[in-house]
Amino acid sequence: MIQFEALFKISYGLYIVSSGNENKGNGFISNTFFQVTAEPPRFASCCNKDNHTASIIKDTGAFSVSIIHTDTDPDIIGRFGYKSGKDTDKMAGLNLKYGKTGVPIVLNDCIAFLECKVIQTIDVGTHLMFIGELVQSEIIDDTKEALTYSYYRKIRKGVAPKNAPTYIDKSKLVSNPFAIEYKKFECTACGYIYDEADEDTRFADLPDEWVCPVCGSEKSDFIEVQ
Ligand SMILES: Cc1cc2nc3c(=O)[nH]c(=O)nc-3n(C[C@H](O)[C@H](O)[C@H](O)COP(=O)(O)O)c2cc1C
Repeated sequence: MIQFEALFKISYGLYIVSSGNENKGNGFISNTFFQVTAEPPRFASCCNKDNHTASIIKDTGAFSVSIIHTDTDPDIIGRFGYKSGKDTDKMAGLNLKYGKTGVPIVLNDCIAFLECKVIQTIDVGTHLMFIGELVQSEIIDDTKEALTYSYYRKIRKGVAPKNAPTYIDKSKLVSNPFAIEYKKFECTACGYIYDEADEDTRFADLPDEWVCPVCGSEKSDFIEVQ
């Protein structure tokens, strides 16, 4: 049997994986970044082929990883995890530095970063697994805790969108894995109901510029309803 609930017991971190250069940079939220060897230090990053960042990492041959903390601004998660760089300049207005390979490194809400040069790319189906060798790494803020996927799900009530390798269709679950109440939010202008139970994204994690799909009212025009 396959009990998909068992997969929620796997632990992960949560990161911003970025690539590109000073003229065109992009990144995405990833929970599938991990160390694979110690000598030399090598890491794997699993990136959906449809992610805009996938083609940029392929072109650049390098990527950076920003380890973000538990209080990371929802705008950062919304910007990098639920929007595509195909439609927006995700790096605009952010605190960036550029690595030895030229890739952008997001410093907002970052406690440490790594920069890797791609040495191998493995096609794993829907995703590409980029194997990177460490070029540099640095601690930025030693006072905060790294955001884990479990903390993101249980405390921040976040969910992963379809492009995440660990996305699981709710219909495949025997029980509700989060055992939490989904909330509903009503647009005070047109009455449209945003029901979290039917969506991939928690209302709080929608980006500030998100608007009502029916009438275009702002997110702040929504109120929680029973
Ligand atoms: C919690 C969370 C975890 C995610 N993990 C991954 C991941 O490991 N790999 C991946 O390809 N996408 C993952 N995603 C989805 C991408 O971040 C998302 O599709 C993003 O909008 C892609 O941006 P891009 O098209 O600009 O590259 C995750 C999203 C969230 C919110």
